[in-house]
Amino acid sequence: MIAHKEVQELRSQTRGVAQVVHFNNAGSSLPADVVVDTVIDYLREEAMAGGYETEAKYQPQIDAVYDRIATLINAERDEIALFENASAAWGTAFKGLSFQEGDEIITSEMEYVTNLIGLADTQQLGGVKVKVIPNDEHGNFSMSDFEQSVTPQTKLIAVTHVSSSGGSILPIEEIGKVAESRGILYLVDACQSVGQMPLDVQKIKCDMLSVTGRKYLRAPRGTGFLFVKKSSLDKLKPVLMDFLSAGNVSLSGYTIRQDARRFELYEKNRALTLGLGKAVEYALGIGLDRIWARIEYLSGIMRSALAEIPGLRVHDFGDHKSGIVTFTLDGTESLELKIKLAAAGINVSVGGAQATPIYMEKNQLSTVVRASVHYYNTEEEIELLCRAIAAM
Ligand SMILES: Cc1ncc(COP(=O)(O)O)c(C=O)c1O
Repeated sequence: MIAHKEVQELRSQTRGVAQVVHFNNAGSSLPADVVVDTVIDYLREEAMAGGYETEAKYQPQIDAVYDRIATLINAERDEIALFENASAAWGTAFKGLSFQEGDEIITSEMEYVTNLIGLADTQQLGGVKVKVIPNDEHGNFSMSDFEQSVTPQTKLIAVTHVSSSGGSILPIEEIGKVAESRGILYLVDACQSVGQMPLDVQKIKCDMLSVTGRKYLRAPRGTGFLFVKKSSLDKLKPVLMDFLSAGNVSLSGYTIRQDARRFELYEKNRALTLGLGKAVEYALGIGLDRIWARIEYLSGIMRSALAEIPGLRVHDFGDHKSGIVTFTLDGTESLELKIKLAAAGINVSVGGAQATPIYMEKNQLSTVVRASVHYYNTEEEIELLCRAIAAM
């Protein structure tokens, strides 16, 4: 695990921690200084030398971002496409698939709102049946219910690894084994898990995986990526294309490029791309196993300490919990609690019912306070949070 001395060292590399107690890592975490400096330095150079000229100079570093991401998730560089966020990445994968009437899609009750919108559209407009696997009485994804739901009509399994509103971590490797053995396409939303815990697409056996940069990866806002397994590339039709995606363009057709960058558009913010690459490099330098061990440790402490506060209810069910801690305080609105904590220099967020509608409705929750820990948080910060809440 990351030792106390190293935590202090890592904190000294993040200006923000001196300013605020940040427990909104599931929203957007504090970036390391090196990430911020990479972005700003690039933008300054671009302003002085020209956008295309600066890009040409940094092309090797920009290309290396794909290698870093590939290393992070054990993929190949040509299986990675860059996006501005996880929704665009997930939507590109999902909308690229073609469904026929009678097809079935399996998802879980923890699915994120953007994904549910896509699933709802497909169900209503395309005659496709979406089956939702409810969590069991312990809050865990039920593998037996899932396996019973798979039929010859199942075209896609689309699940969220770590939900934005608490709940148990989904057994994505177990699900992947079923997907592979039944030859079903498998799309994983890893928006909250990449950067938080080790993740290996070979083990997950997914065809597609969508990720954002700003959360546990500590990359700048406006970054994200999509993994598409090489052998599944041609199963998705790119939604939007430009000259990066295709060549030999004429009115009678074009030649599509042979890697996942066919799903990208050429124009994007190169400074942010380099910032994303730096953030991935930084996380790899620490080690995802060690990051995850510390997050598990800190979130465990936080849940136990919060549970001691009279009137406070922690809402994270299930056997495998993430760094996202959700709770409510009797008699205090979640938003009011967030505002009061912000006044005390502590950032938390409010998870509304709209983010994970099926889960929140089932558990009769309209909002939860979400305090999400990262490895750079400390035991003292958790104490501060609990004292501030107890004083309310
Ligand atoms: C589980 C999950 N999936 C997808 C998203 C969407 O990510 P983005 O805002 O980068 O599009 C979020 C955002 O909170 C999320 O928590």
